[in-house]
Amino acid sequence: MNDTNIRNTRIGSSCYYLPIVHTLTGTAMSASLDTVSAQLSSNCRALTPAPLVNEPRFVRFIEAVDRVVDVPQAGMAKEVAVAIKELIAQSDWLPEECCETSEECYKRHLLYADPEGRYTVLALVWLNGQASPVHGHTAWCAMGVYTGNPSAAAYECNDAGEPVQTGVHHCSPGQVVSLEPGAEQPHRVYNDSSDVVITIHTYGCDLVDEPCSINILF
Ligand SMILES: [Fe+2]
Repeated sequence: MNDTNIRNTRIGSSCYYLPIVHTLTGTAMSASLDTVSAQLSSNCRALTPAPLVNEPRFVRFIEAVDRVVDVPQAGMAKEVAVAIKELIAQSDWLPEECCETSEECYKRHLLYADPEGRYTVLALVWLNGQASPVHGHTAWCAMGVYTGNPSAAAYECNDAGEPVQTGVHHCSPGQVVSLEPGAEQPHRVYNDSSDVVITIHTYGCDLVDEPCSINILF
């Protein structure tokens, strides 16, 4: 399958989305970037076209993000976070297949890939105990809590280059967080609650052609 087939297209005010999924194992803190990148590349090849999304809330969100990325500037992550907050003000629009879990690792559902490759929207579904590695991004990113109570921990590197946790934010449904790009903001998201967590993420990069946006990983 080539990018023409899996990338979103738009007709009028409607947009296509991609409900099927690739997964990233939130695994070994010592995993190399090459390993993660290869895993993502492999999984992304499994993406399949999706039905038309007529959910007005999601269409409005895509239109709002388009307006943000049309004028690239500092602070885009915060602006997109505002759009995500509006999107997740109701938690009844995510297709059932995008809420599927995986016992092996948290599951990543690709919701939307900008036709111009400027951003990508994912839904991540976390079972109890599932966690991302500590990582940073080359791109800006924003996350909102669709359902459940995930935690987001911030880190900084000590003199030995090891990550030291500097804080943790216990999130509630409807809350958003955003990060500007840069390895100076390593972080980790995890679910230590007993309930399933679903988070909506938007990354300021093309995760179809360049499936790994990670620039630091522990
Ligand atoms: Fe991240």
